[in-house]
Amino acid sequence: MSAIERYLTGITTTGTPHLGNYVGAIRPAVQASQRAGTENFYFLADYHALIKCDEPARIQRSTLEIAACWLAAGLDPQEVFFYRQSDIPEIPELTWLLTCVTGKGVLNRAHAYKAQVDKNTAAGVDPDADVTVGLFMYPVLMAADILVFKAHKIPVGRDQIQHIEMARDMAQSFNHLYGDHLVLPEAAVDESVALLPGLDGRKMSKSYDNVIGLFAPREQVRKQIFAIVTDSRAPGEPKAVEGSALFQIYQAFASADETQKLRQSFAEGIAWADAKQLLFDRIDSEVAPMRERYEHLVHHPEELETILQAGAAKARERATPLLRDLRHAVGLRNLATVAGSGKKDKTKSALPGFKQYREADGMFYFRFVDAQGRTLLQSTGFVSPKDAGQCIAELKSGLALPHESDAQLAPGITADQVLAALKALSDNVN
Ligand code: TRP
Repeated sequence: MSAIERYLTGITTTGTPHLGNYVGAIRPAVQASQRAGTENFYFLADYHALIKCDEPARIQRSTLEIAACWLAAGLDPQEVFFYRQSDIPEIPELTWLLTCVTGKGVLNRAHAYKAQVDKNTAAGVDPDADVTVGLFMYPVLMAADILVFKAHKIPVGRDQIQHIEMARDMAQSFNHLYGDHLVLPEAAVDESVALLPGLDGRKMSKSYDNVIGLFAPREQVRKQIFAIVTDSRAPGEPKAVEGSALFQIYQAFASADETQKLRQSFAEGIAWADAKQLLFDRIDSEVAPMRERYEHLVHHPEELETILQAGAAKARERATPLLRDLRHAVGLRNLATVAGSGKKDKTKSALPGFKQYREADGMFYFRFVDAQGRTLLQSTGFVSPKDAGQCIAELKSGLALPHESDAQLAPGITADQVLAALKALSDNVN
């Protein structure tokens, strides 16, 4: 079993990158992409953008700026998977397969949809006013983004945890019905990542219109920094660092030493204008080296396009074989392979898998079936689904025959056949 961990993150292409995006998402992701033993997937979620934006020019511009921004910040497309969602047709294809195993009731509970319904109810209008099916289906599209690359870890903010749990449930439902094809993802919430306050002290966010553009012209950045809200303490009066947006933004960019120095200056009564100049210089020194590359890319969109096309090709090397397996698993198959047609099933893409079920006796069972659906192992009854799952997990990781008391070979099946199927499964899933 290989120990590679796959991380995956999507960025919705509706806005222009600001300092909050940089500190909260881009910078940590670029650092994380250099970890050994990981594969990293970063993509421009432009299908998601359509859910909230119907201005084509804005979507195109945002896609350009965000792509340029991630590359300027140091993301190496040779080392990671960097692609545009809409270049991967397997994503909408998987979306549909997942749609068919997802209860509508599950989606009724999704935060983004519920928030809109609650708002409508409070306003006394139709509960579904202004709700597109796109908004309703958002969690399914997001699950497809994740599952199509068998990602293990999804770095997200707290607001996205529910979506990851839904993706997990969808993968589980699919696997339960069709065999073990999808990897169950997990949210990875990094509490240490800085949450940047904006110009007015609230969280820096497009929706509050309090952002500082990451690659806005220098003079504009300076103006914005000088517009950060402070109190009315005069030069010479000691100033509090607690609750100071200026101090917090500085801290997100400065070393511990530099931060300590500014803390001292606050106590000694630094003038707000001087503190703002210090902040501007600190940010500018980090952004300036990236700015050149950013400007170059934004003015050479054809270079970006080439990078994204190459990224899509690389990503599809993973997605295409998976969808081929999934299509086969659900029964979207080449008719020439129909059982009993006398021809052997030549679509060798399907995998062996475990099927779990419950019998009328109330006990939990599983069968291990080969790629053609033939039963290789039949379990005895387990009291809980967890016990059955535990036994399956041991079979998968141990690659050895089960205890007689847990499961037995099906009639006519040899130990070697079972071991070969376990191995095939493990080789393919990892
Ligand atoms: N919905 C995410 C957001 O608004 C963006 C996103 C789309 C995403 N697909 C994803 C994030 C898959 C992680 C994994 O922030």
